Amino acid sequence: MNADVVSQLAAVQIRRATVADAEALTQIGARTFFETFAADNTPEDMRLFLESTWRPELQRAEILDEGMDTLLACDATGALAGFAQVRVAHPPAGIETQAPVELKRFYVDKPWHGTGLARTLMEAAEQAARARGGREFWLGVFQRNERALAFYRKCGFRSVGTQVFVVGTDPQKDYVMLKGL
Ligand SMILES: CC(C)(COP(=O)(O)OP(=O)(O)OC[C@H]1O[C@@H](n2cnc3c(N)ncnc32)[C@H](O)[C@@H]1OP(=O)(O)O)[C@@H](O)C(=O)NCCC(=O)NCCS
Repeated sequence: MNADVVSQLAAVQIRRATVADAEALTQIGARTFFETFAADNTPEDMRLFLESTWRPELQRAEILDEGMDTLLACDATGALAGFAQVRVAHPPAGIETQAPVELKRFYVDKPWHGTGLARTLMEAAEQAARARGGREFWLGVFQRNERALAFYRKCGFRSVGTQVFVVGTDPQKDYVMLKGL
């Protein structure tokens, strides 16, 4: 990894979101979702999903939700480079867990892919999960999201089942992955 990337990564700070971050969170969330999944969805399903999921008032409510941790990775200028959302929640029926915490969302902005920022953010997310009493950490990931699947495997998650994730009108199958904390 070149020296510029190393120094940029060293300047990244992880902090908790405040309501002042809602707009920026909406923007990075919608942009990253579009960039990652537009090729796998119809424009109409994409539009429906983005409209129903990424709106500043929704992200504001998520940030204020005491049952959820919204962690931001910010670059040296304070701009958002990624975020993670963690909450106490059970995986789908049939997947046995002890004190499960869900990694609800985990998005890193494209220029930061492959830099190690995702790993730093994951460590912060795991720390937040442990602070909520979690003993197992789980997530859902689209079956064709090969990059994310490879990253989660590197972090120690393994596939334990599937769940449905609806994009617009399209019910899709996600893998459920799990790791001990
Ligand atoms: C998923 C995400 C957080 C991973 O962070 P990242 O910085 O890209 O991850 P890394 O580069 O450390 O690891 C990805 C691995 O997948 C590999 N990879 C990349 N494209 C791949 C592909 N098409 N098929 C298989 N492996 C692939 C990379 O080579 C790398 O492995 P390596 O470190 O052994 O070389 C990031 O890509 C992201 O935010 N993507 C968009 C949003 C998203 O998909 N979030 C997850 C939703 S569940």
